[in-house]
Amino acid sequence: MESFTVGEIVDVRNYGRAEVIEPLVTEPGARFHGRIRVRYQRDGKTYYARPENLRKTVQVKQRVLLCHSTTHYRTCAASVVNWGDAVLEVGSHEGECTWLLSRRCRYIVGVDKSPATVAAARRRYPELRFEEVDGFDVPALKALGPPDGSGFSVVLVDIGGIASLSTVAALVGLYYKEFPYNTKIVVKSVFLKRMVEDCLPYNTEKNNPWALLPGGAGSGAGARAGAAGGATDGDSAGADSEPSTERSARPGTDAEQGEEDGEDEDDGEAEGEGEVGGGAQAALPGGRGRRRGGRARGGTGGRGKAAEAAGETEGGEG
Ligand SMILES: C[S@@+](CC[C@H](N)C(=O)[O-])C[C@H]1O[C@@H](n2cnc3c(N)ncnc32)[C@H](O)[C@@H]1O
Repeated sequence: MESFTVGEIVDVRNYGRAEVIEPLVTEPGARFHGRIRVRYQRDGKTYYARPENLRKTVQVKQRVLLCHSTTHYRTCAASVVNWGDAVLEVGSHEGECTWLLSRRCRYIVGVDKSPATVAAARRRYPELRFEEVDGFDVPALKALGPPDGSGFSVVLVDIGGIASLSTVAALVGLYYKEFPYNTKIVVKSVFLKRMVEDCLPYNTEKNNPWALLPGGAGSGAGARAGAAGGATDGDSAGADSEPSTERSARPGTDAEQGEEDGEDEDDGEAEGEGEVGGGAQAALPGGRGRRRGGRARGGTGGRGKAAEAAGETEGGEG
């Protein structure tokens, strides 16, 4: 069983961010034996949670996080979002993910270009803010930032998992350029993820695969200025001079093996099974009750009921 330490910030399945305030209760016969006391960041309430419902939060240095399914997108978002974050969701649809993330951050806004879905989101989650904005309208997006002027620290992009690569890439490229460097961008896109997995960045480090080519920077004979892989930045001449017969020595076909699984937009995985970074998991229901072509809902006012039911009734203190 994973261990949690007092003071650690965790994600509680179906609840949100919390701080561990008491270690595992081990006294035999104690009322909350086997549970860990946490305090929710959202409202300061405390709760004895089952350890299996706690997930370590994770921080990654990468700026853009790519996901191929709704489950992974929501889990990834929940993993990187912190209570101090101001979050923008582009493509908020009827607001479910925005609502789930609202328990994990101080400020969140959902936008969608479809008036009907914005209206539905407002009806379902009247306490949250949803606006009809096209994701390409960056000035309008920025204007939705927190009143303190701090701007968005996390941007979630889900304009459809199988939206065209060029559209998603253009949108992500725009945000990459227009939002500050420390703004994390979480993207759901089957095609962008697949393309990025097919990329191998060229670099001139000694341990890069091209350095093994004869004449490259890493060859035992020493670097020859201008040879393939041996030049420093801007070495287009060096790249051109690479002998064509050596191209077969390049790696790069590994990526062709591809990923056959999980390329659906909604893969219907069990809730909270996604991973991000070093494997830490966050608990968010993704595609819960959803199957391609439709979404099951609990009816009017039924938002989040399944999520609540999964954990909010047990061992609660208050
Ligand atoms: C798959 S849904 C989003 C689901 C949502 N993220 C969730 O997890 O519940 C995709 C949404 O993106 C919206 N969309 C598509 N293109 C957009 C654009 N350029 N700007 C804003 N929203 C867009 C669609 O109207 C649709 O509601």
